[in-house]
Amino acid sequence: MCGIVGYIGKKPAAPLLLHGLSKLEYRGYDSAGIALAQPGHLTVYKSVGRLQVLFDQVSGGEELPQTVGIGHTRWATHGKPSDENSHPHLSLHGRFAVVHNGIIENYAQLKKELQENGVAFRSETDTEVVAQLLEKHDSEDMLRTVQNTVKELVGSYALGILNAAQPDEIFAVRRASPLIVGVARHGYFIASDIPAILPHTRRFIPLADGEIARLRRGEITVWDEAGKVVEKPVQEVTWDISSAEKGGYKHFMIKEIMEQPDALAATISPRINDKNEIVLDGIHLTEEELKSIRRIAIVACGSAYHAGVVGKYLIEKLTRIPVEVDIASEFRYRDPLIDKHSLVIIISQSGETADTLAALREAKARGARVLSVVNVVGSSIAAESDDVLYTWAGPEISVATTKAYSTQLTMLYLIGFYIAEKLGTLTREEVLSLLHELKRLPDQLRGILGLAPQLKQLAQRYAYLEHAFFIGRNLDYAVALEASLKLKEISYIHSEAYAAGELKHGTISLIEDGTFVVALACSPDTVEKTLSNMKEVKARGAEVLLLTTEEHRQLAEEADHTIYLPRVHPLLTASVEIVPLQLFGYYVALARRCDIDKPRNLAKSVTVE
Ligand code: AGP
Repeated sequence: MCGIVGYIGKKPAAPLLLHGLSKLEYRGYDSAGIALAQPGHLTVYKSVGRLQVLFDQVSGGEELPQTVGIGHTRWATHGKPSDENSHPHLSLHGRFAVVHNGIIENYAQLKKELQENGVAFRSETDTEVVAQLLEKHDSEDMLRTVQNTVKELVGSYALGILNAAQPDEIFAVRRASPLIVGVARHGYFIASDIPAILPHTRRFIPLADGEIARLRRGEITVWDEAGKVVEKPVQEVTWDISSAEKGGYKHFMIKEIMEQPDALAATISPRINDKNEIVLDGIHLTEEELKSIRRIAIVACGSAYHAGVVGKYLIEKLTRIPVEVDIASEFRYRDPLIDKHSLVIIISQSGETADTLAALREAKARGARVLSVVNVVGSSIAAESDDVLYTWAGPEISVATTKAYSTQLTMLYLIGFYIAEKLGTLTREEVLSLLHELKRLPDQLRGILGLAPQLKQLAQRYAYLEHAFFIGRNLDYAVALEASLKLKEISYIHSEAYAAGELKHGTISLIEDGTFVVALACSPDTVEKTLSNMKEVKARGAEVLLLTTEEHRQLAEEADHTIYLPRVHPLLTASVEIVPLQLFGYYVALARRCDIDKPRNLAKSVTVE
């Protein structure tokens, strides 16, 4: 996710662009830049680092007279954070400047074709392809130039475009990435999100998918995908700045829970090509290297570790390679049996967790191949790994992870399918069927998010718990671990996840009248067993919230409340099961008036050991 702004009007553009970008830093903050237009010339200022670096570079933009410009604050996906990878990107001869939010999925092919025609690229980004295509399609009619350019693009893109030959206009394009036009008295804006325009106006025009907008002084024209001019009513923002930065949600956590379908789609779709082949751009393991792997170790902390527990079940089942999963701070000190025949999968949202980074170094020192699954491009863990697969969840602001965890699961599924297909433990037909199921997940999550009111009601009933237990078997147990952490870290309720079959070996002594137990029973092969565990706790007075699927309705008789989930492939259960429990944890903490996005004692990235 990145932040885009643009301005054309009576005032100098630079200060307005910088101020607008400062309101969008929650969308990305590893580098920033602006481009300003004057007749026949585009001037670009951009740098790696926080927006303040750019601000200092142009002294706040006060001395820059141009009244037309575009700006960008970046969350790197293709190409590490650097000056040359920052936006705006110029075309080869400087005729066009572009800022972009989204992912151009076919950029590699387009880049290759352009390079074969003599176009020299300056950056590693997918975005630069857009700037070069504009020059390729340059014509007297800028609308046609833009239309011919975007026709070649596959993927998601919100674009801001300047043309040196026509400096008194900005073009904007929207495809699967948000983009609005702001209507102020002194001029017009384009922006990725409302916070960027709020200091100037509450009047805005949301662009729809496929629409192209041209902003001139005093004139806004919008064309639809078919090239027809469309009338767009001006709308009024009702939010204040603070809630606008959260997209109108009360907290970043609930916003990020709701973003999960899009985050999964952004992470999955570029990894499955139009021939339904898995394309893991970050893995450079050869087939013989894959075949020489005797053991896989998944190492991480916290929720990333919980994702790894899911990964263990799935990768071991599919590849038949022994998989162990370890907490990073334990792995380092147990003299692990890791050598050059080991693949170590490191999982980390931030890519900066000290325990995890230290475990990575320990694994490399023992000769292992290290593959990391990371959400932050250019982070320390990414830089020190042999192979890196990025989750494209976008910046995750809330300390309690949700969308990053969910995208880590999808990345682990893809790794499991990929290795199993290469090793022949999955047939092509089986892989196709699994990929079909995987591509359905974003829509299934959208459906489950509709359960939010039901979870909110349940949460208000249980908001004053002192203790909670989450029980399940196999993949259900793996999800119980994450669900329990979600509840405890933001509501401060003491919560434990327990393997359901293990309860009777001690912990069941804690179950008494009114004890709250969440039973996770979605994995078909263990549902019946979990039913008997539910009966055990009910017999001792527990109140049970059951999560199961429609075909196991009979279990509901043993529960006080039941949440029914859509049936998905048994291996993908975790992705649907965790969502209602993220919502439950959020609404319990909300009812307890906790500081949800910044829980006490916690940090978003634990960079100390
Ligand atoms: C989970 O909600 C917490 N934020 C925490 O457990 C986190 O998952 C853990 O610190 C690992 O962080 P990382 O993914 O950035 O390495």
